[in-house]
Amino acid sequence: MDFLSIFDEKTPARAAAQVPHPKVRSPQWDFSDYKFESPNPDATENNVFRRAYLIGLSLLFPDGERFFIRAVKRYADQIDDPQLKQDVKGFIAQEAQHGRQHELLNEKIFGSRYEVNSFLKNWNAFAFGFLEKFAADYLPYGGGKLEVAVTAAAEHFTAVWGTSALKSESFAKFDSQSIKNLIYWHAIEEIEHKHVAFDVMRHVDANYFLRTGAMVVTAALIGSLSLWGFAHIFRQEKNVDYLQVIRSFGYEAFNKDGMLRQFAIAFVTYFKPNFHPSDTDDRELFAEFSKLVDASIEKVA
Ligand SMILES: [Fe+2]
Ligand SMILES: [Fe+2]
Repeated sequence: MDFLSIFDEKTPARAAAQVPHPKVRSPQWDFSDYKFESPNPDATENNVFRRAYLIGLSLLFPDGERFFIRAVKRYADQIDDPQLKQDVKGFIAQEAQHGRQHELLNEKIFGSRYEVNSFLKNWNAFAFGFLEKFAADYLPYGGGKLEVAVTAAAEHFTAVWGTSALKSESFAKFDSQSIKNLIYWHAIEEIEHKHVAFDVMRHVDANYFLRTGAMVVTAALIGSLSLWGFAHIFRQEKNVDYLQVIRSFGYEAFNKDGMLRQFAIAFVTYFKPNFHPSDTDDRELFAEFSKLVDASIEKVA
């Protein structure tokens, strides 16, 4: 007997009807209403701290999401549950769309003001040219289970961030409607598919140590990569209001919906034995915003 199997986790009891399933939306925003500065002093466009972390994350999304797709796709044929099979297709389609929209925004808008190419090249070379290959060749469970467990952990973070983005006062204060649409669309889809990579991982290996070990790796990676992206943009800023930076950082670190605080809570919660992302009930918030998002997009299937 494999002694690690004593740490196998139970299947959580949960009504399938309680979980939303990924829908495929095909937005066509061109972000031409986005300006780096706004005459409205309250607009989030004028906040260099928020701008740097939004751009930093946006630069990580396309290649990061393509990695998630690779990790889940590897096991797609082994899934026999028809609903999960369908959800995997939805997950892949949604992440591909996120990558496309963020890539457009990165190239067309953010790249017109900031030097973004060296960061894109360097983080890509580090994460996929080196780390992904190293994991596949040398790490235990690398080249399969580890990648899907890292994806499950990363998707837990993106779903929790999605929830805090929907509640965030500062995101609601963007003047640009297309940026708000993009944030809310991405956020609700992260909530909608939060169980998918997790359930694929459980199907492959429902082991506590694989799941939480991958979480430690993922938290360190996401933490350092997003800090790297933030710093790359922030150091290109010329007029920085440091008081505003400290205030915004304080909100993200200490407010109950702040992204850094939510990141820490998401990390700790993941260590609960038999944890499942669908244990967090965000259906009310999801219902409110998914209606708004669907109304802003013509093609929803
Ligand atoms: Fe995504
Ligand atoms: Fe996702």
